[in-house]
Amino acid sequence: MTDVLEAGSAPAAQDSTQGSTRDRREDGAATWWRQAVVYQVYPRSFADADGDGLGDLAGVTAHVPHLARLGVDAVWLSPFYPSQLADGGYDVDDHRAVDPRLGTLEQFDEMVAALHGAGIKVVVDIVPNHSSDQHRWFREALAAAPGSPERDRYVFARGRGERGELPPSDWTAVFGGPAWEHVGDGEWYLHMFAPEQPDWNWANREVRDDFLRTLRFWADRGVDGFRVDVAHALAKDMSLPLPTAAELAADDLPDGAHRLTDRDEVHEIYREWRELFDSYDPPRTAVAEAWVPAHRRARYASPEGLGQAFNFDLLQADPDAATFRRIVDDNLRLARESGASSTWVLSNHDVVRHATRYALPAGTDLRTWLLSGGTDPAPDLARGLRLARAATAFVLALPGSAYLYQGEELGLPEVADLPADVLQDPTWVRSAGEDKGRDGCRVPLPWSAAAPALGFSSGTPHLPQPERFAGLAADVQEGDPSSTLSFYREALAVRRRLRAEEELTWVDGTGDGVVAFTRPGGWTCVTNLGDEGVELPGGTVVLTSGPLDGRTLPPATTAWLVTGTAAR
Ligand code: NOJ
Repeated sequence: MTDVLEAGSAPAAQDSTQGSTRDRREDGAATWWRQAVVYQVYPRSFADADGDGLGDLAGVTAHVPHLARLGVDAVWLSPFYPSQLADGGYDVDDHRAVDPRLGTLEQFDEMVAALHGAGIKVVVDIVPNHSSDQHRWFREALAAAPGSPERDRYVFARGRGERGELPPSDWTAVFGGPAWEHVGDGEWYLHMFAPEQPDWNWANREVRDDFLRTLRFWADRGVDGFRVDVAHALAKDMSLPLPTAAELAADDLPDGAHRLTDRDEVHEIYREWRELFDSYDPPRTAVAEAWVPAHRRARYASPEGLGQAFNFDLLQADPDAATFRRIVDDNLRLARESGASSTWVLSNHDVVRHATRYALPAGTDLRTWLLSGGTDPAPDLARGLRLARAATAFVLALPGSAYLYQGEELGLPEVADLPADVLQDPTWVRSAGEDKGRDGCRVPLPWSAAAPALGFSSGTPHLPQPERFAGLAADVQEGDPSSTLSFYREALAVRRRLRAEEELTWVDGTGDGVVAFTRPGGWTCVTNLGDEGVELPGGTVVLTSGPLDGRTLPPATTAWLVTGTAAR
């Protein structure tokens, strides 16, 4: 055995200088997030209670028993705010309200009460880089004159050319097309994503105060934490002259020097947010979606900042033992540096589901594959699901928190054959049909095989469910001990029982393509990502992601074993 790695220990243990907040963190109520299992709900596709084809908050409330039985510690809700759905709800008209199609604030309170009643925390999505173009402040900005305080809340710039008829720069948006939109009076506004998502100007104090108000609004309603969208991009340097797209893309820019992302000033914003979070008892938590180089991630995750940051490394990696081990090593080291715990993510609402990624040959270009309608290359879905379950069991045994995405507990594959006329993701249109987008992982969940719309809705689901989802419906899997649903429930229950200090010790010599480690208390996790079966080490098997062959762990399978007192 080699390499004892201790992930970051709770800040309370490291720093006694920060007063009462840190003291409160010692009681566990404040550190629930460190090794939590957080289940992501994409509300419009989870469950529809009112029959309009769009999932809603009452649908979440109705399915709290499912979440409780699954055994998750928290639910993270993707945006449920009023929105024109130019980007699946990440275009927010009003951050302190509920989209009337999804419910009311009272229904939000009922949902929180039901989740809390089941011992499940609630995390909401905050989208601070941009609003929607229907936000009251953006409409006021458009109605106001260049140079006005209303315009200053967003990123407006004068266009080039005599009358400002050319965009201020040649920058392109993440979803494709130009990043600037002309407003007809010589000024243009910046949108890093869709044109319906104008970027806020975070140098403006009013914007900062308004977001503090939003955070307080939800925290006062009992929300336990926040997932922070595009956390790396709030601070921007718009001083003239603006660099060209090529200059922006230069890979030799020093850390913090990029005009649009990962600027050091962004952390001043999060220090203010942290003060607000820590004024609650227990402190509210936050997790950053920060697309930054690994060595810059710790600053977002620090206890003075948001407290935790997503690591998307596994989500982008092929299922390979050496790669998995390196990613775990790197991230536990980063977590140690930041004082946070690590996060682990295999799927979310932005990527091809992992049961399908693993069904494809390593290195498959997913964008091209989606454009083929999911046929070229042909996925081996049985192998994909086996590997997905093995990877999930691997992740659930790691120190840190695990983020699950709705439907992965049913083993749902990506729906890659959605016809073009139902696609909603702005990338499809913005890329002129070159990027099919993310709808395939956002297809409404199948709850009940025999019910209309598979139990998702009494109406027509906003994205069509494929017939093959019927065989994966929750009620079909319910009584089957070999189902993916049963496996997830079992895994979460055993994880809860074995939950240990945030330490990991690698176990070497277990075979080619095998990655294995122990956790304190006699918990061993062995994952076989190779081509041959391998002999399991000693111990009592308490979980497997698929059938064992005696004491042989077949390929694409994970087993958890316990020794010593944990075995009793
Ligand atoms: C990241 C979110 O996860 C994604 O769904 C969204 O499109 C962008 N941020 C823009 O808000």
